[in-house]
Amino acid sequence: MANRSLKYFHYGKYHLEKVGHEYANYIKSGNLLKNGPWSVMDIGCGSGRVLQEVLIPLLKPSISEIVGIDMDSNMIEFCRSKNQNPMVSFHTMNITDEKIPLYLQNRFDVLFSSYCFSHVRNLRLGFENCSKLLKKNGELFFIFQYKTHALYTTYKKMSGIYKWKLFTKEYNSFAPHFIGAEPEVELKSIIKDAGLTPLHHKFEPDFCIDLTKRQLLGIYESLDAKIDELPEDLQKDYRRDFLEIMSEVTNVDFVDQDSLDESIKFNVPTVCLHVKNIDL
Ligand SMILES: C[S@@+](CC[C@H](N)C(=O)[O-])C[C@H]1O[C@@H](n2cnc3c(N)ncnc32)[C@H](O)[C@@H]1O
Repeated sequence: MANRSLKYFHYGKYHLEKVGHEYANYIKSGNLLKNGPWSVMDIGCGSGRVLQEVLIPLLKPSISEIVGIDMDSNMIEFCRSKNQNPMVSFHTMNITDEKIPLYLQNRFDVLFSSYCFSHVRNLRLGFENCSKLLKKNGELFFIFQYKTHALYTTYKKMSGIYKWKLFTKEYNSFAPHFIGAEPEVELKSIIKDAGLTPLHHKFEPDFCIDLTKRQLLGIYESLDAKIDELPEDLQKDYRRDFLEIMSEVTNVDFVDQDSLDESIKFNVPTVCLHVKNIDL
């Protein structure tokens, strides 16, 4: 569906205040505006809204370039079509690719990422690649959801239905990040194994966003790249089952079309993470 990126651009603003607040605090605490100019990457940039509306206004005098990457080429094409800033470029890239292109290695002072690493299946590889992207003494500041993941849990349940098995089987053993009793220990161990040094983290299990059911559904539908893989004659049935299962997983009724404009509070357990590319 070619308009998924436009849909994400439209609905994907549930978190701009939170991300803006956390990024601003990080930038202030590290005196980022007094130094630089910095070479910056936004990992999993989606429709580019956070990059254009949060990162650039916060960092403006102190950046030499911002590179946005996303594994979804649909999102990257959309970002390119909207961008007019010569300091900004966009690349289709998966942060867990086996090989990071040489021209991107050892290039960045700061990596930012908002609500992407919850989708990254192999966190160890993801962070190892971050250490390759970063210059020595470079830093990353990430915000992502942990403990719950409605989209991939929906795929997991769909993988048990014969009709959808073929398309969703890679999720049949999916588990969200940090569901164990000691998420902090787990997180630090992954960071250290990637050759990075954890400086600060904050787990917020009760963080909630306020939005309508229509907005929440719009976000999940716009991130659902699976539907692009389906033959057109299966898409109607897929959407019906997707809505039913997503409702069960989130405990939010998306099937009743008449109630989609109801406002809800939706729990998005969130972790903020500050890491440096140096051995202490
Ligand atoms: C919830 S959206 C967040 C987009 C944007 N950062 C924001 O805050 O609005 C997650 C994005 O991460 C991208 N993504 C997920 N896994 C990725 C990976 N392994 N490598 C690169 N991008 C990824 C998805 O394609 C999607 O655009």
